[in-house]
Amino acid sequence: MPLNGLLDMELRSPEPSALGDFWERHGLLRSADGVYGTADRPTQLTIGEGDHRHLAALHLSCESEADLAGIAARLDELGLTATVADTPLTCVDPVHGHTVTVDVGEPAPIRPAEARPANVPGHTARTTERADAVATRTQPRPPRRLGHLVLGSPDLEASRRFYLDGLGFRVSDEILNGVATFMRCEADHHNLLLQPAPTGYLNHYAFELDDLDAIGAASTAVLAERADAHVVGPGRHNLGSNVFWYLADPDGNFFEFFCDMDQIHDDDAWERDHCRRDWEGADGPAGFSVWGPADPPPEFFEPTDLPTIAAARAARGLA
Ligand SMILES: [Fe+2]
Repeated sequence: MPLNGLLDMELRSPEPSALGDFWERHGLLRSADGVYGTADRPTQLTIGEGDHRHLAALHLSCESEADLAGIAARLDELGLTATVADTPLTCVDPVHGHTVTVDVGEPAPIRPAEARPANVPGHTARTTERADAVATRTQPRPPRRLGHLVLGSPDLEASRRFYLDGLGFRVSDEILNGVATFMRCEADHHNLLLQPAPTGYLNHYAFELDDLDAIGAASTAVLAERADAHVVGPGRHNLGSNVFWYLADPDGNFFEFFCDMDQIHDDDAWERDHCRRDWEGADGPAGFSVWGPADPPPEFFEPTDLPTIAAARAARGLA
C-alpha cells in the first residue's frame, strides 16, 4: 500500500493570526507559532501568511522507503519531478501548485470516542438519567482529526493523474463524467475529493468529530459567533455516508465537521462489491444527501471570491 495517511496540511491566509485564533476558539490546540492540532494529533493545520486564501502544502505518509521510490518513479513517468533525499519525498501538485511531501510513517492513533448510551425503540441503554449530550453540554467535544480535503481543479485529468497514477491514492467512488472522484489514502471513504472548477482552489477541509451531537454543538458555536458562516447542513451524504455540516472559516474557506464516514479495511472487497465509477450526478442515487439539504447552494461549488483567487494564481502562472 503506497500511501497510508493524511498527516497535515498548510493554509496560507491574508490574516493568519485571525484564522488561528478562530480555530483555537473552536477546539484546535496551538502547539507552536502557526501550528494547530488535536489532542491526539498536535500537527494537523499550519497557517502561514499569503496574499490570498489557498492550500500551500499537503503532508502524507507511506509505509516504506520502497514506497517513496515507487512514487518517485511513477511521477517521473508522468513527467513530474520529485525530490527524495532519504525522506521525505517532495513534489509539487502540477495543477494547484502546492507542495506535497510524503514521509515514511503513519498518522498517530486516535483514542476511541467515549461510548454514550442512547435509547432506541425496544432497547433502553440509559435509564433514570439525562442523555450525555445534555448532562455534559458545557464540556466541548473538539475536532478529533483532519479527515479529508476537497480540491476544485481546472484540469481534472491532470489532477487525477497526479493523485491516482503518481501518488497512489485509491478510488472509492466516482461520479460519472469526472464530476467528482472520491479517493483515499487511509481507511476513510475519502481523504481527497477532486471536482471540476474554473480555477484551482481548496473547496473545503474536514475535521472528524465524535458524533452528531458533537457536530451540532461545534457548528452552533461557530454560528453564535458569525451567523453568516453557515454554508450547508446538517445532513448525511450518500457517498461516504458521513454526517456533515459545512461552514466557512474567517478567510472564506469552507470547512466541514463530519462523523460516521464509511471505513474501507479491505480494498479488494470494496473494489469488487462497492466501488462505482459511474454514479450519476446530483439527481441520481449519488446525490448530495440522504437527508438534509438536497443540494448545496450554488456558491458551494463557485465561491464568490473565485475571481480573486484566479487573479492571484494567474500572477503565479497557475490556472
Ligand atoms: Fe467533505
